Amino acid sequence: MSRQTLDVIPKHRLLRRTLYGLLLAAPLLPVGLACGNDEGCGFGSTTLSGGTVPLNPDGTAPAQPSCGGCPEQPDPIPLLSCTARKSETPGRADVTCSYMTCMNDGRRPEGLREALASRSGDALGALFAHAAWLEAASVPAFLRLADELKAHGAPESLVRAARRSAGDEVRHTRAMQALARRHGATMPDVDLPPFESRSLEEMLLENAVEGCVRETFGAFVAGWQSRTAQDPEVRGTLRTIARDEVRHAELAWAVEAWAQEQLTPAQRERLLQARQDALRMLGEEVEGQRLPEQLIREAGMPSRDQARTLFQGLSTLVA
Ligand SMILES: [Fe+2]
Ligand SMILES: [Fe+2]
Repeated sequence: MSRQTLDVIPKHRLLRRTLYGLLLAAPLLPVGLACGNDEGCGFGSTTLSGGTVPLNPDGTAPAQPSCGGCPEQPDPIPLLSCTARKSETPGRADVTCSYMTCMNDGRRPEGLREALASRSGDALGALFAHAAWLEAASVPAFLRLADELKAHGAPESLVRAARRSAGDEVRHTRAMQALARRHGATMPDVDLPPFESRSLEEMLLENAVEGCVRETFGAFVAGWQSRTAQDPEVRGTLRTIARDEVRHAELAWAVEAWAQEQLTPAQRERLLQARQDALRMLGEEVEGQRLPEQLIREAGMPSRDQARTLFQGLSTLVA
């Protein structure tokens, strides 16, 4: 099949313009290593359940719930924040606890059980091993998306793009595993319970969070790494991955655009709210990041100041 036939998702011009604008600015930005800490860990997050809390008297979920139910993780995996959303249990809200981890961002499938940082290898190995793990977890996420899009009558172009994305993630996994091995680390196993059927709205909520926010930001970070990593092998690997990740982000936004026709105004409002919540949580993670200087220098990971700039670009896009 020709490349032209495969490029079925229209390019998202604002997304590409935003990304290229950010990347062109890369050499001019200060290399903010002030927050660097060789023992530190940061950028990226994982979430765990923190139990439930009571709803507010007016029936809304508390904006700043207690994080007391969040499970403790060994250092250096600090708790970043917790948020609450209305539970299916009457009068209660589910608490989601967000922890910092050393990793890139991507499309996480529902139910993915977190793998903590690799204990073997150095900081770079841990970064690449975790990135490989996340790439591997993205494969079933895209296959599920393809099946669900088909089941919900989405255009064939979206279904094909989701399947193609799954294939991309297989290649990304191998590429990241190779980088991890170079630094003495191995990819953790992907622990994912079987998927259950879900509604169109549930699928779209995941797409809003994991695709429109997280994978889009992941595409920005990958693009940044492809330009700033001192290690030429990392730059080369990330160049290919970044190109694919831009298409994955475009797929998420194309799914979002298609969904607008399928949903009620109330459902569209919930989708918008989910995107805003995910953006806010990501912003908190960016503000709290503490990256080892080695990851900024050799892997091209953005420093906190640089990540803020990328995040501002994403915020403009999401808004
Ligand atoms: Fe990927
Ligand atoms: Fe991806």
